[in-house]
Amino acid sequence: MSKSLVQLRVNDMEYVTEACPMQRLLDVLRENLKFTGVKEGCGEGECGACSVLLDEALVNSCLIPVCQAEGKSITTIEGLATQRGLHPVQQAFIDRGGTQCGFCTPGMIMAVVALLKANPDPTEEEIRRSIAGNLCRCTGYTRIIESVTSAAQAVRQVKHERLS
Ligand code: FES
Ligand code: FES
Repeated sequence: MSKSLVQLRVNDMEYVTEACPMQRLLDVLRENLKFTGVKEGCGEGECGACSVLLDEALVNSCLIPVCQAEGKSITTIEGLATQRGLHPVQQAFIDRGGTQCGFCTPGMIMAVVALLKANPDPTEEEIRRSIAGNLCRCTGYTRIIESVTSAAQAVRQVKHERLS
């Protein structure tokens, strides 16, 4: 397959890189653009380690050909922190021990960010469902659920402060 120039918008920055149109978005993000926070686990859409947001929708980047991402906005774990600090979800995972080896954590956090955008006050059942596609081999899920609950409170607090 021949390569051509591909234009991608990642974490609010524009990139032009050479890739085959059907190359996996995962590989282009990691290998061409060095967004190595996007992890490869199964490579088959089963583990969620490669999760990114594509126009705000959670996707497995191992299943997306890069040509489908052109013209869309891609957010990776590297795009969550701001100059003011870590995203509240990242901070909650640190504070609540939601991460051990950390391999699943970027994908898990992207799933939680997508959840909280759609539903800022999720029930435990909704949290469990939102991360059902993200596998963790290290922790029990208890600390992850606690991290998400704490993150939801923090995100609501930030929104409240912005509105008041
Ligand atoms: Fe993409 Fe597992 S690497 S879902
Ligand atoms: Fe190691 Fe989840 S923290 S796989």
